[in-house]
Amino acid sequence: MDRIKLHDKYFKLFIPNEKIEEAVRKTAQQLNHDYADGDIPVFLSVLNGSFMFTASLMKYIDFLSELSFVKMASYCGTSSTGQVKQLIGLSDSLRGRRVIIVEDIVDTGKTITDMYAMLQDMGVADIKVCTLFLKPGAYKGNVRIDYHAMEIGNEFIVGYGLDYDQLGRQLQDIYIVE
Ligand code: IMP
Ligand code: MG
Repeated sequence: MDRIKLHDKYFKLFIPNEKIEEAVRKTAQQLNHDYADGDIPVFLSVLNGSFMFTASLMKYIDFLSELSFVKMASYCGTSSTGQVKQLIGLSDSLRGRRVIIVEDIVDTGKTITDMYAMLQDMGVADIKVCTLFLKPGAYKGNVRIDYHAMEIGNEFIVGYGLDYDQLGRQLQDIYIVE
């Protein structure tokens, strides 16, 4: 499919699956290098958007790790709402742990900044951020984005977990709004 319609908008093919997989594999290699030693870290995958990235990434990880899925929704439509939400879904304490936040996309940085502050409040020992996509032109946060698989411009994309008002998450390629 070269062109799709989700709700009222048309999207065209932007990044094929093979390119994404290759970028994810390279990111995993960086993590494998950086986490070869030390305490067992916890991957904190932020739902819903990062389910596909997390599944792909984890297949290439070769160090001992734990994985937890959390939720922190703060986005609706094609622009950030600026709302602050709560972190839900954690069953075990993260106090003193090494945490790797796994995000689908870092846009303005609002979500990751809020999440980072919450983890600091919980007494997490070390926090790193790993995102599939980074929009450097839109990012206004102070949090260091330690790992990003791909950079894109300020355009709106869907697929590989990312949605447009809840549609398009299952697409294995990335599509860009026309
Ligand atoms: P931020 O708080 O502005 O960094 O936005 C982060 C969240 O906005 C992500 O977790 C996504 O859910 C959503 N988002 C930002 N840009 C896009 C996009 O291009 N497509 C789909 N969702 C996006
Ligand atoms: Mg999201």
